[in-house]
Amino acid sequence: DKGNHRHFMEKEIYEQPEVISHALSHYIDFHNHSTKAIDAAIDFKSLRGLAISACGTAYLAGLVGKYWFERYARLPVEIDVASEFRYREMPLSKDQAALFISQSGETADTLASLRYCHDEGLKIGAIVNVKESTIAREADAVFPILAGPEIGVASTKAFTCQLAVLASLAIAAGKARGTISADEEKQLVKSLAEMPRIMSQVLNAIQPQMEALARDLSKFKDVLYLGRGTSYPLAMEGALKLKEISYIHAEGYAAGELKHGPIALIDENMPVIVIAPHDRFFDKTVSNMQEVAARGGRIIFITDEKGAAASKLETMATIVLPNVAEIIAPMLFSLPIQLLAYHTAVFMGTDVDQPRNLAKSVTVE
Ligand code: F6R
Repeated sequence: DKGNHRHFMEKEIYEQPEVISHALSHYIDFHNHSTKAIDAAIDFKSLRGLAISACGTAYLAGLVGKYWFERYARLPVEIDVASEFRYREMPLSKDQAALFISQSGETADTLASLRYCHDEGLKIGAIVNVKESTIAREADAVFPILAGPEIGVASTKAFTCQLAVLASLAIAAGKARGTISADEEKQLVKSLAEMPRIMSQVLNAIQPQMEALARDLSKFKDVLYLGRGTSYPLAMEGALKLKEISYIHAEGYAAGELKHGPIALIDENMPVIVIAPHDRFFDKTVSNMQEVAARGGRIIFITDEKGAAASKLETMATIVLPNVAEIIAPMLFSLPIQLLAYHTAVFMGTDVDQPRNLAKSVTVE
């Protein structure tokens, strides 16, 4: 049932504040502002490293998770798409644990990577939406994302719920390993707890602007997304979402890689969507944006209030989100990229919930 939404994808985008709140309540104690104990099957305290594997959007969630586990838990993370991971013959050791992220819990390559790690003697954690799935059944520890059924083929609420779970786990791992203080834990958890409310506000606030912008974006054939830090995986997710439902060619790049190749493509025919909250990397990303502007590129700037005030560049559009703690920015900045892809596809008249050539669950290799 789509309720009063035109598509399941739209419904699922708007469900995010509610489902994320539900997911978070499984991992954090809202009252004491602390993380709850992690399933003892994986002992984060004694781990030397983490191997993460997944496909598509779930892989991009894992890539954001890598930044968090490394920063907050000082845990080295090896991550790859499952179709490469399983064949890479990477050296693995029993003092690493392996995490598999999958909405459906049935993705063939992800399952094969899981079995490979299991045979190598690693403890297996599964971050899944479908709790009865094969990947969940074969894991030592299951971390449900509690997003509820996701019908739209393009993943939206599963992605942000995966992020919420990864953030909670990284904080809990940091606590277990003594790499964040009790005070830092409290601040991070407080920020996560505030997120559902801020997400609702943002969804309502930006909707008209995203719809109008989608109309302009639908005229282009190529789009480049740029981001730095955790906004880099988000840039790739933005590009994936746009291409899969609107069929517009899109690429996501690390902002710093612009001058190593993609800058050759910049002209007025390829809008550049820059995802840049006012974080530690903001000034660096703005200098990349200047390089785009200097070559006649059109910029769609997705930033926060501080970022909007700090940049004087002329843009095709500037989307301004509230200033928030760094840990919740990836979830919040997912909203404009989802809405932009959604409205562009609707405007172009594609089959949003069932894009051509795609399946919701990829059980073939
Ligand atoms: C993109 C999308 C896919 C899936 C990928 C993995 O919107 O939905 O890229 O993320 O096929 O699927 P799961 O998470 O079921 O393993």
